[in-house]
Amino acid sequence: MAKRLYIKTYGCQMNVYDSQRMADVLAPLGYRLTETAQGADMVILNTCHIREKAAEKVFSELGRLKRLKPADRAADSPGPLLAVAGCVAQAEGAEILRRAPQVDIVFGPQAYHRLPEMVARAVRQGGGVLETDFPADSKFDHLPAQSESPGPSAFLSVQEGCDKFCTFCVVPYTRGAEFSRPVADVVREAEGLLRAGSREITLLGQNVNAYHGEGPDGRTWGLGRLIRRLAEIDGLARLRYTTSHPRDMDEDLIAAHGEVPALMPYLHLPVQSGADDILQAMNRRHTAADYLKVVEALRQKAPNIALSSDFIVGFPGEGNGEFAATLRLVAEVDYAQAYSFKYSPRPGTPAAAEDEQVPEEIKAERLAMLQDLLNAQQLAFNHRTKGQVLSVLFDRPGRRPDQLVGRSPYMQAVHVAAPAVTAERIMGQILPVRIEEAHANSLAGSVELPLAADPVVSGPRPVDARSFAGQSL
Ligand code: 5AD
Ligand code: SF4
Repeated sequence: MAKRLYIKTYGCQMNVYDSQRMADVLAPLGYRLTETAQGADMVILNTCHIREKAAEKVFSELGRLKRLKPADRAADSPGPLLAVAGCVAQAEGAEILRRAPQVDIVFGPQAYHRLPEMVARAVRQGGGVLETDFPADSKFDHLPAQSESPGPSAFLSVQEGCDKFCTFCVVPYTRGAEFSRPVADVVREAEGLLRAGSREITLLGQNVNAYHGEGPDGRTWGLGRLIRRLAEIDGLARLRYTTSHPRDMDEDLIAAHGEVPALMPYLHLPVQSGADDILQAMNRRHTAADYLKVVEALRQKAPNIALSSDFIVGFPGEGNGEFAATLRLVAEVDYAQAYSFKYSPRPGTPAAAEDEQVPEEIKAERLAMLQDLLNAQQLAFNHRTKGQVLSVLFDRPGRRPDQLVGRSPYMQAVHVAAPAVTAERIMGQILPVRIEEAHANSLAGSVELPLAADPVVSGPRPVDARSFAGQSL
């Protein structure tokens, strides 16, 4: 009988990808994904350690899950196997087993190809399994083909780990050193995703544009070259990549934005701060001017490119002047979207030990100011798409039964009204949508083609994104 597996994913897209791959690894053992922890045979929390709240959430979830397990491990029904994965597991493995003895397995992001063996061990010895070493073998060499349906828009991990050591960040410690998968592996996985029906692939890596994988010619390929190779695969309509570091935006990658039609005109390029002394204290290895130069080069190659970023306010030593420099940079770039956070001291990172920590109220004040500006930019960007026809990849049902939601080339969520029969036909397709409404976080519009009469829509081959991508705003 199939066993039920519930995976709760926290944090970044890399974790979303890892969770899917954990399900693939456990499929041969008879585990199938389920929607709730209630009644599951195994529960995995795939955790994030990037900011304080993320780790706290894990411990409170573990508290809630406690009631699914009997206090006595020798009870008739031992309850579900409970596992903690991801970056909190990597950073605080032993501490988790100590604070939450109901947990059976704790394993880091590089060890999940060993899940079948860990499960067997946990059952045999009644919990207490800890796997947080960085194994010498790469998990990618041991993962089975993707078995769960990847959907219209799929993630593909091409790079992991980080050697940058920004002084605020735990990633180099939790995910380990930079590693790039060979080109042939990536191409094979991409072909599999497209065969399974995906139309869009987002290449993932903590530092994705530091990609330096082995090419089929035995040489090292950068991300630009990998993108050009992937764009040749039949059926691939859209490509994206995330997350990038400004230092690794090389000429070839920037040029690809002007030359590869499948590469979507949207880039998440975190800058963190607009003040040079803060950037230096963060060990970002670039100045505000360096960042603006990259933005300018990108816009020269792809004039319609929309930009997104991450910001940290209240980094140690940030005064009003430094914060004002961040606001100036935001005004200069004009973002389509962005994430911003209050600095959160992470144990073991250099910035956490700095004396000049910024008081919470000031962090909160600055965050509100920055978010006001970013929200205004996002709304203005959305309004500029009103009246345009954008290509939309429909990938999920809307909240209302007669609604379908997709993504524009610029990652905006686009809602259209679609009665059930139509919805079934357009799900997973890329179609032109005339944008009629712009809101803070989404757009609404209607599909441009007369659906019934259009052979491209009703036939087996969906409309090609290339005919709609690259429309200027
Ligand atoms: N405090 C606040 N934000 C952080 N980030 C990473 N570490 C911290 C921290 N210690 C943010 C950065 C990064 C994003 C993924 O999370 O902006 O780009
Ligand atoms: Fe963290 Fe910096 Fe590496 Fe990004 S580049 S993962 S912020 S250390």
